[in-house]
Amino acid sequence: MKEHHPGTAITPLISVNEIASRIKEIGKTISEGYAETTQDSPLLLVVVLKGAFIFAADLLRSITIPCTIDFVHASSYGSKKTSSGIVAIRHNLAITGRHILIVEDIIDTGLTIQQITAELIAMKPASLGICTLLDKPDTRKYPVDITYTGFTVPNTFIVGYGIDYNELYREIPFLGVLLS
Ligand code: IMP
Ligand code: MG
Repeated sequence: MKEHHPGTAITPLISVNEIASRIKEIGKTISEGYAETTQDSPLLLVVVLKGAFIFAADLLRSITIPCTIDFVHASSYGSKKTSSGIVAIRHNLAITGRHILIVEDIIDTGLTIQQITAELIAMKPASLGICTLLDKPDTRKYPVDITYTGFTVPNTFIVGYGIDYNELYREIPFLGVLLS
């Protein structure tokens, strides 16, 4: 629990060190996996805002091949802990012919990533991969083909390391379960 969130119970789930070492591994796997394909044009990380911004900053620095970064803004949750079923997507991307890797915080029902993927595929990238920090497979409703997963987590509400509830708790350095 954080001192400036009095009365809020956050149970630690994944520590700062566990996050850091897993991201190093993923960065290495991505760098090896894309080494050949990106010789002519660098890999493009497409980061889903806001939740993935801290993950993306660390992931970018664990990748050792040339890569560029851009952003898409998605909001699906409103102020509740369950998905509203409506995803608003905003971006200004130029991705035609690029090898792109979407960087997401959590894949829950799969709706958000499915909508983003559909929109980006219509722009004809050379390839499209998905890298998510957290996967909640138990709540999947829309099938998703995830390329890289940080951690598989149970169906609980998670905050910290960029991930929010009602815009709060993003600054907590570890991943924890928000109770109540
Ligand atoms: P989906 O569309 O149901 O897959 O929901 C994906 C989005 O909902 C994620 O990108 C998150 O922004 C948000 N989300 C899902 N589960 C959680 C959670 O446990 N904590 C905070 N946000 C979540
Ligand atoms: Mg998100």
